[in-house]
Amino acid sequence: AGRRFLVGGNWKMNGSKASIAELAKAWGAAKVDDNVEVVIGAPALYLDYVRQQLPASFATAAQNSYKVASGAFTGEISPAMIKDVGADWVILGHSERRHIFKEADELIGEKVQHALESGLKVIACVGELLEEREAGDTQKVVDRQMHAIAGHVSDWSRVVIAYEPVWAIGTGKTASPEQAQEVHANIRAWLKTNVSEDVAAATRIIYGGSVKPANCVELSKKEDVDGFLVGGASLKPDFVDIINCTR
Ligand code: G3H
Repeated sequence: AGRRFLVGGNWKMNGSKASIAELAKAWGAAKVDDNVEVVIGAPALYLDYVRQQLPASFATAAQNSYKVASGAFTGEISPAMIKDVGADWVILGHSERRHIFKEADELIGEKVQHALESGLKVIACVGELLEEREAGDTQKVVDRQMHAIAGHVSDWSRVVIAYEPVWAIGTGKTASPEQAQEVHANIRAWLKTNVSEDVAAATRIIYGGSVKPANCVELSKKEDVDGFLVGGASLKPDFVDIINCTR
């Protein structure tokens, strides 16, 4: 559909200098489809090191950032700092931020706004809990999360939406290609109604939740699946098989 496929890795709180050097070596030696945009979300502490180690064609992302540039916010990092160490992206609103660290829709919206104003690109995550899906509330929840994000977006060309059903994250339970496609199509329809037809057509909507080399090809064939956000499987050398899944 003319949208460049994007494969993100989200290492979460994993890795060490030794494991990063090893992965970077394996990926540097592998044949990677250069039509695919690759973004690696590393722990903030390692962003600088990861930037030095990874192939230049792999972009890097922080996994969170605060809503202002600097100040008395112990433990936080800002988009300005992320840019300063050579990363171009930030992942915001990940379900672990929402559910373990209790980040509310409004805070996530403010973070998206500040990250964009600071010049970063944003992978903004949405997705329902198992009980929300079982109650038939998937679209209601995703629409609410989309609304809180979209109200703060100044430049959609620097935003990617990641749909990550929480029940599929780290569980080995992947959404079926049909389940993913259904929600992706609904998110695109939401963008068309609430933002614009052009933004709906151009915005990448990527899927996350137990994506691995064995299931990525089928998922990637769905019309509204424009890439992946990969957790566990992005910590392994064969992550390149996911990057290359559309070849
Ligand atoms: O951001 C990535 C997702 O949370 C997916 O994680 O691939 O380990 O299920 P997972």
